[in-house]
Order: sequence, then C-alpha cells, then structure tokens
Amino acid sequence: MLVLDFGSQYSQLIARRVREAGVYCELIAGATPWSVIRDRAPKALILSGGPASVYGEGAPLADPDALNAGIPVLGICYGMQLLAHQLGGRVVSAGKREYGPASVRVEEPASLFKNLPAELPVWMSHGDTILEAPAGFRRLAQSDNSTIAAMTDDAGRFGIAFHPEVIHTPQGREILQNFLYLVAGCAGSWKPEAFIEQATRAIREQVGDGRVLCALSGGVDSAVCATLVHRAVPGQLTCLLVDNGLLRRDERRRVEEVMARHLGIDLRAVDASDQFLGALQGVIDPEEKRRRIGATFIKVFEVEAASLHNIDFLAQGTLYPDVIESTSHDTVNAHRIKTHHNVGGLPADLRFKLVEPLRYLFKDEVRAIGAALGLPDDIVHRQPFPGPGLAVRIIGEVTRDRLDTLRGADWIVVDEIKAAGLYRTLWQAFAILTPLQSVGVMGDYRTYGNVVAVRAVQSEDGMTADWARLPYDVLAKISSRVVNEVPGVNRVVYDISSKPPSTIEWE
Ligand code: XMP
Repeated sequence: MLVLDFGSQYSQLIARRVREAGVYCELIAGATPWSVIRDRAPKALILSGGPASVYGEGAPLADPDALNAGIPVLGICYGMQLLAHQLGGRVVSAGKREYGPASVRVEEPASLFKNLPAELPVWMSHGDTILEAPAGFRRLAQSDNSTIAAMTDDAGRFGIAFHPEVIHTPQGREILQNFLYLVAGCAGSWKPEAFIEQATRAIREQVGDGRVLCALSGGVDSAVCATLVHRAVPGQLTCLLVDNGLLRRDERRRVEEVMARHLGIDLRAVDASDQFLGALQGVIDPEEKRRRIGATFIKVFEVEAASLHNIDFLAQGTLYPDVIESTSHDTVNAHRIKTHHNVGGLPADLRFKLVEPLRYLFKDEVRAIGAALGLPDDIVHRQPFPGPGLAVRIIGEVTRDRLDTLRGADWIVVDEIKAAGLYRTLWQAFAILTPLQSVGVMGDYRTYGNVVAVRAVQSEDGMTADWARLPYDVLAKISSRVVNEVPGVNRVVYDISSKPPSTIEWE
C-alpha cells in the first residue's frame, strides 16, 4: 500500500494503521509521478488529508494517471476532494468548517462499510465539501454537513470525508480493513519477518558490494539497523561505537557485549569524549549543542571511515518520528520542533550515502522486528535515548563533573523503575540535571547542592506524551537514593508536564 501524502498531520498515522492491519505500507509525496508509483507495484493507493483546498494556489494534486490506473484508491478528506476535483466533480467551500465529532449515515452497507452499523460516529476536519460527485460515482454515506460523506465508483475508487485513522472514529480500523482486504485484496499477512525479508533485499540492492559503516548508540534503533545490514550483507558491515562521553553508565560495555560477542559483528569502539566535550565547552543553547554534537560525530566518523578504507554507506536507525519532526522532504507540512541529531545534524556535504531501513517505522514496530531478529530483551525493550545523549539532559554547560552527577542519578532512576516492574510500561524514565542550586541540610551541615529532576512519561510514539503517575513510594525511593548516593545533589523534583505543550526532553 502506498499513502500519497498531501501534508495531513495524520498521514503517518494512516501508514501505521495500515501496517497494524498486516499490510505493508509506505508514505510518498502526494504529487509523485505515476511512473514512480507503478515501479513500486502497490496494490492500492490511499490519498491522505491535507491542509490545502483544491482551489488554493499551488494546491498539491495527484498525477491523474495514478488515479486512472485501475488500482483501487481511497481518498481521505482532502484526498477525497482531490479525487472529486481531478475526476470532474464539484468541490465547494462548506461555508462552515466541519471540525470534530460528527455522525454519518451509511446508505450502502457494502465494501467499505460492510458489517458496520448504519450510523457511524466519525471525526471530521475539513473546510471544503463535495457538491457533485464525478461522473460514475455514487454516494455511500452522508452527514449533516457533508451531503456526500462517502462515495465510490465501479473502478474501486473511494472517497471519505472523515478520518478513519484517528481513534475518534471508533470504527475507523474496520473501515480501513474493509478497504485493504475487501477492495484492494490484501492478505493482511505482513509481519516483522516479511519486513526483515524485504528490508534485507532492499539493503542488498542498494549496497551491492559496497562497504557499510553503522554507528551503534546502545539503543534499539541502531542495534536493529545494524543487525539487518549484517544479515543482508554479512562481511560488508563495520560498526562503530562512538563513545562521545555523553552515554549512560555501562552503556558502552553492554553494546560491545551484545553486538560484538553475541552477534559477531565487526565492532570498533572509539573514545572521542575529549573531542565532544571540547566542542561543547561553554555551550548552553540546546540547538547549538545538537549542531556541535552532530558535526563532531560526523568528523569522528569520517576519520574512522578513512582509516577503514572504501566505506561507501552510512547505515542509520532513523525512525519515522525523527523524520517527521525534523521537517524533511518526506512530509509536506510538518513543523520543526527540534533538530533531531540523526536527521538535521548531518552536514550537507556528507560523503556517505545513507542506508536507513527503519525510516518509515515507529518504535514499537522496530521492537517487534528486533525481537524477530533474535536480539536480547534488554536491547529490544530499551527505552529510547536521544542521539545527543546526556548533553540535552544537562541544562546549561556540559562538563565531566556534571555528567558524572547526572549519570549517577540516571542510573538510580532506571534501577528503581525496573525494580518496581514499571520499565516496560514507560516510554522513557530519566533524570535531568537542572542548573539550579538549592539549600539543604545533611546531618548538622548546611548544603548548597544540585537539583535533579526526574521525568517519566507514557507515550505511543514520542510525538505526544503524558507524565507517568508513578507510585509515591517509587518516587520516594528514587529521591532518597539520589540525594544519598549521588554526591552534590540535595533535592529531587518530579516533572508533571505533558507533551504538548512541553516536550519529553528538557532541551
Ligand atoms: P521531545 O523532547 O522532542 O522527544 O519530545 C521526543 C523523543 O525524541 C527523543 N529526542 C531525540 N532523539 N535526537 C534523537 O535522536 C535528538 O536530538 C532528540 N531530541 C529528543 C526523545 O528522547 C524522545 O524519545
């Protein structure tokens, strides 16, 4: 399945829902020419929503050949209007924007709406509506505001005015599944194993007999990425663990143990902490930290690559949320929030070609693939860790002393969360070293020490998050251990902000 992306904030959710239904799916730019789409041989196309009006200046349109190619098409919201507009129907401004919950009455309980009730609660978000369906189309459902809430023709082309991908459309999953299984004839058999097979084939094709370098960070993404490349082109991969001095306690040893000893991957560990800490000296601004870390990382890489001879490719475990939030060419209308290290941090003159097999996956999908690849549980379920490491968890200047303090606190947070059996229920749990000093008392002495913040969040994919309601006794243990075991800390606070409006990391 290909989702043609017209800039909806939900485009990636569509892809995710399709994959949850066991159908492999990728996103491509909405205006991609049919010749390119045809080469990918999709069973059907989904046209995403988008912020534009089909009459707006520069409104993105689909290649008409793609719409008339004889493969099933499902247009969602803007995708439906575009289908109507490009096939000769009439789209008009609705006068009143239809936004939020609505109800649609199904008139033809077949195909898309098979086995569903006649009245469906749905989620709408559109300003235009379809006044006249194109020739050959008929109405399938209507709502109070959209006379045509769903339409189809005999060629298997569908339009729906609402969003089946969001949870506010409770039967959305069934509607998408009906399209995938009944209309497009997909089997729903896509599983991690199928992805592994497909990804290894694609890596083999891309890499040929070239040599690949992969940076291991200790996280599940880079581990899965390296394992995939190792499986695809054994003997052509060298992994590099850049110890940037910003890793968590014990991180490096664990990576070496699993990847080199357990999987037999050619792994070199380089201690570049002096270089990174030198580059970070005096830097306070979070984006500047990211930029310098990214630049140093590539410099170290290039030196190592040169010493390895003939490295052509750089394999990276970039995930879909990194791609979306960093505003890449993949998305039409995403807003830049933070420059994520493995996307925005790369300089333009990078001389490696990139291999990014996980680029369209969400974290939970990567974990499923890691498990299917046989990676150990502690790697597969390791919580995400940002590329710039502890540097974005030290507010203010990064120094060796402050890193030691944070490492000590971080270790205790994770240790207690694991002991309470909560580690896998949380997206992330970690400590932040604030730039604050506060007064305390220890024994009979006054102290003036660091304030450590604890952050624990629940999230599906890192794009939104809620602070975790950790049991008080777990928080109490963390607090007491941190102030007792980590020199220089005399106060612990708990962060109770959700994302949005906050972000998960403090920087
Ligand atoms: P935020 O702080 O943006 O974090 O809510 C969302 C997720 O992304 C991780 N994160 C990063 N990952 N490079 C990365 O590779 C970065 O610069 C970066 N900043 C945040 C963060 O840990 C969370 O899981």
